[in-house]
Amino acid sequence: MTAPLIDPFQRAINYLRVSVTDRCDFRCVYCMSENMTFLPKKELLTLEELDRMCSTFVGLGVEKLRITGGEPLVRKGIMTFFDAMTQHLDSGALKELTLTTNGSQMERFADDLYAAGVRRVNISLDTLDDKKFADITRWGRLPQVIKGIDAAQKAGLRVKINTVALKGFNEDELFTLLDWCASRDMDLTFIEVMPMGDIGNEDRLDQYWKLSDLRSTLRETYTLTDLPERTGGPARYVRIEETGQKIGFITPLTHNFCESCNRVRLTCTGELYMCLGQEDMADLRAPLRNNPGSDAMLQDAIRAAIALKPKGHDFDYSRQGVDGRVSRHMSHTGG
Ligand code: GTP
Ligand code: 5AD
Ligand code: SF4
Repeated sequence: MTAPLIDPFQRAINYLRVSVTDRCDFRCVYCMSENMTFLPKKELLTLEELDRMCSTFVGLGVEKLRITGGEPLVRKGIMTFFDAMTQHLDSGALKELTLTTNGSQMERFADDLYAAGVRRVNISLDTLDDKKFADITRWGRLPQVIKGIDAAQKAGLRVKINTVALKGFNEDELFTLLDWCASRDMDLTFIEVMPMGDIGNEDRLDQYWKLSDLRSTLRETYTLTDLPERTGGPARYVRIEETGQKIGFITPLTHNFCESCNRVRLTCTGELYMCLGQEDMADLRAPLRNNPGSDAMLQDAIRAAIALKPKGHDFDYSRQGVDGRVSRHMSHTGG
């Protein structure tokens, strides 16, 4: 047995998020600027390299693998990579293989994902209004995503909807979104908007809708019970007693969850970010490429990186400004 990955704060690292591309077919206003420059394709790890990288992490005790982007399903040939990960599910080393997606390509991929062993997907959706959806994603169209969600459910995938809580944008849809998810038997998680990357003219503070406020609004209508359950991610869940529905809250700003962090992030060029909210990273591409015959150097590089994992992010909007911002866009590190 190899020793598990433990960081300097005694947190066991068993969750790897892998951004397989920085590209996306949407341009969500809080995530990207209108004119994004993407990485040249030659910078990317090949699908075989991604396989080797992830397999090495699994060998070091990673049990949960979440594929992200950008939009992971726009990476050419991506099913080859999912199919390669199936062996780790079959061996029992990997407990969960999953992805976070905007849903636009789900209609094409849902059955294949299920066949590869994916059972649960997180689909990002911030509004149920066609016009608002087109506005917020710039390039996205709601009917296409709804078709993707239909296909995912039909394929047998459990769907969780991720909604970024945005002041003045989807506040008025809180109950509509809740009812819609309940009617389709989907979980719903709200996320506080984080100061990541230059997004042009948008102002983070204007967008920021505290989830503590959202909770209070819910409490005016419903009885909420905190649930102890965890999915291995940062969301904390409540049950709405009147309907039995489960709602998740991801609150990096109002309630920091870094003390229980169990994850690191690999980018499509082989950088390992030890924290979503910090700038430091370790290059894993060189130890991977320079040692084609052995994973020993790569394993050492991973252990050395985990030993540098910081305590947490410094995002803070409380002083009437945006503190702790990071220069990378969310699409670089994959959320
Ligand atoms: P579950 O397996 O469903 O619990 O997934 P998850 O919440 O880990 O993954 P998901 O991709 O749905 O994450 C939703 C969002 O939560 C991400 O896009 C990020 O915005 C945010 N998030 C996830 N992990 C972290 C983290 O470590 N720190 C911060 N600040 N935000 C995170
Ligand atoms: N703050 C919070 N969530 C964000 N996402 C993208 N950018 C941000 C941000 N700045 C969300 C997307 C998707 C997930 C990958 O991250 O909506 O649900
Ligand atoms: Fe694409 Fe997701 Fe960013 Fe929207 S939030 S632009 S769907 S990566």
